[in-house]
Amino acid sequence: MSLARVQHISVSLDGFATGEGQSLEAPFGHAGERLHEWMFATRWGRAMLRRPGGSGGVDDAILRLFPAGIGAEIMGAGKFGYPGWHENPDWKGPWGSNPPFHTPVFVLTHHPRPSIEMKGGTTYHFIDASPAEALETAREAAGGQDVRIGGGPTMVRDFLAAGLIDHLHIVVVPILLGRGVRLWDGLEGLEKDYEVESVSTPSGVTHVTFTRAGL
Ligand SMILES: NC(=O)c1ccc[n+]([C@@H]2O[C@H](COP(=O)([O-])OP(=O)(O)OC[C@H]3O[C@@H](n4cnc5c(N)ncnc54)[C@H](OP(=O)(O)O)[C@@H]3O)[C@@H](O)[C@H]2O)c1
Repeated sequence: MSLARVQHISVSLDGFATGEGQSLEAPFGHAGERLHEWMFATRWGRAMLRRPGGSGGVDDAILRLFPAGIGAEIMGAGKFGYPGWHENPDWKGPWGSNPPFHTPVFVLTHHPRPSIEMKGGTTYHFIDASPAEALETAREAAGGQDVRIGGGPTMVRDFLAAGLIDHLHIVVVPILLGRGVRLWDGLEGLEKDYEVESVSTPSGVTHVTFTRAGL
């Protein structure tokens, strides 16, 4: 069975998964790097930045599960680029010529454009579709593997509200952002449909998983 999975979305204590004022120079707005310091302290995170070093502990072990069993990703237009990227015909996302996905990636946008093939197996497809339609399309491309619901918070919230997420892994970071885009709005009682576990790691973050009951 092909699952729809959210992997390690970082959320502040007050529920924000990105800050206010996103731009090309500040992809997370006023949050800066604070939501992902835990990640970029690990060996996996350092390797993403093409830098040596980093910790090899529990956070690192969890992050290394990123590609396991994933055959396609769906992401929102706000993750793919800065506000207004669709007006830039040369924009190919912020991850360089060989992005870390290595699968088809479906970018939800009201401004579709032709697909872009990148190095390493990532191809960006731009679709204007409902969450259910996008998931069906991504499942076909995933060849029986799972589909990563990649964020940002607006699209994850939409997929949760539509009851489409089988497994949700969020990382609660002990900071207060005060403003930005919230993950949980409109999802009161969501936990009733899931088995919930949490574990804190020595870095100070708490990994919380929601697994659809009966899976
Ligand atoms: N904390 C984390 O771990 C994490 C993870 C990933 C991303 N982020 C951050 O989150 C931010 C982006 O999140 P966000 O909530 O602002 O935006 P988002 O969820 O990435 O994208 C939302 C946008 O996608 C398009 N869209 C969504 N659903 C659609 C549909 N059904 N059909 C067509 N288009 C649709 C719309 O853009 P248009 O109308 O403009 O096309 C919408 O405004 C960035 O700062 C990113 O760096 C954080």
